[in-house]
Amino acid sequence: MTNIVCIGAGYVGGPTMAVIADKCKDCRVTVVDINSKRIDAWNSDSLPVYEPGLDEVVFRNRGKNLFYSTDIPAAIKAADIIFVSVNTPTKTFGSGAGKAADLQFLEKTARSIVEYAEGDKIVVEKSTLPVRTAQALSQVLHANTRGLKFQIVSNPEFLAEGTAIEDLNHPDRVLIGGMDTPEGHAAVDKVADIYRHWVPEDRIITTNLWSSELTKLVSNALLAQRVSSVNSISALCEKTGADIDQVASVAGRDSRIGARFLKAGLGFGGSCFKKDILNLVYLCEHYGLPEVAAYWESVVKINDYQATRFVGNMLSSMFNTVADKKIAILGFAFKSDTGDTRESPAIAVCRQLLDEHARLYVHDPKALENAKLDLAGCENVTFCEDPYEAVKGVHALVIATAWNSFKDLDYKRIYDLMEKPAFIFDGRNLLDAEEMYEIGFNVYGIGKEPKTRFRK
Ligand SMILES: NC(=O)c1ccc[n+]([C@@H]2O[C@H](COP(=O)([O-])OP(=O)(O)OC[C@H]3O[C@@H](n4cnc5c(N)ncnc54)[C@H](O)[C@@H]3O)[C@@H](O)[C@H]2O)c1
Repeated sequence: MTNIVCIGAGYVGGPTMAVIADKCKDCRVTVVDINSKRIDAWNSDSLPVYEPGLDEVVFRNRGKNLFYSTDIPAAIKAADIIFVSVNTPTKTFGSGAGKAADLQFLEKTARSIVEYAEGDKIVVEKSTLPVRTAQALSQVLHANTRGLKFQIVSNPEFLAEGTAIEDLNHPDRVLIGGMDTPEGHAAVDKVADIYRHWVPEDRIITTNLWSSELTKLVSNALLAQRVSSVNSISALCEKTGADIDQVASVAGRDSRIGARFLKAGLGFGGSCFKKDILNLVYLCEHYGLPEVAAYWESVVKINDYQATRFVGNMLSSMFNTVADKKIAILGFAFKSDTGDTRESPAIAVCRQLLDEHARLYVHDPKALENAKLDLAGCENVTFCEDPYEAVKGVHALVIATAWNSFKDLDYKRIYDLMEKPAFIFDGRNLLDAEEMYEIGFNVYGIGKEPKTRFRK
């Protein structure tokens, strides 16, 4: 039986290892973390991560060949293969602050592996890392005085939150990078063997280590770039009377462009896109490529601009002031089907509205607890479990996350509960604007002509 250990029981480590345990009954999978509260939650009925389908996979395998534990030394000792899935946030201090990846958690993990390992191991980079991190990792691991040998393999994770289980069950591709040596090839093959349990061979792609590390950063950068590209054009649509959904859908019919990921909105969020692009920017600057760095940095700038522009539109539409006005924020998660609010554009929108002295009523089906942490210390915010409670007496309603359930709310009832004139600012172009207008709302989407009842 292969002993698989994953260090880091977060949004990636928890679900990824649950699916590996589900698919590989001949493996024993242990997920460890220094955060005992998180491990307790993984061992409880209320998992620390919300993902459609995750509960079923965990409950079906936990205690059989899937274990969540804080006993890091024992797990490392027993492991044949160690996945490292710790957080790699943007550095907030010292050299490279604001751009470079903070690798302290990764290095601490490497040092734990050296301390507790009693035999040779394969160490798999699951975290998203700057290109050439494996070199540093290898140096830390091989600084041991016991002659232990480690093979470093890069196996970045491409799952998207909200569809993690589906993505893990049916990945577009699994990428495994290794050293170009016989031992490196053998290690890559051993990791590929895990995925061969359910992933077709032609979807398991092997490359050299550096390509694998860089591919993950580039994949996220390209996805984020599409969002910023379409959002930049949404600004032009609002000035010209063009409609961004029409423009994007027809442009996307060109098979070279492709239809997916061309939806205009408040901008991308999540823990990865921004940090990974900034990491790419830092690498380009480090390697003396300032023009390339500036190109990718503009993707983040447009993303920030989109949220600021949205609030600017709200202000000008609501007679240039929201001071003391009540505003309902429907949705706080960075996207639908997750409770994750990291880098959610809703945070920037709320903070800017609070700066304008608005009073906010925030509702989200899954992310309310995280929203409370994100807006901790802010006055004039009320968190509402019930969407109808959130809209009572408000002047405006903001759709900040494209939860499908928001489409099914009773907007006639909502209209009746709101102050008049009633505004909807649909930051995700989720609602049928015509229908909302017919009810009586003044409707503002992204990249669309507003539907208002005001005389021009
Ligand atoms: N969240 C995503 O959608 C996603 C997708 C693909 C890749 N990634 C990458 O995967 C990595 C993990 O992301 P995440 O969202 O799961 O992060 P996370 O913050 O949810 O989880 C990381 C976990 O690692 C633990 N940890 C940190 N240092 C540790 C140590 N020394 N020993 C044991 N545990 C330790 C933390 O306590 C935390 O629970 C990041 O590099 C991220 O960029 C994330």
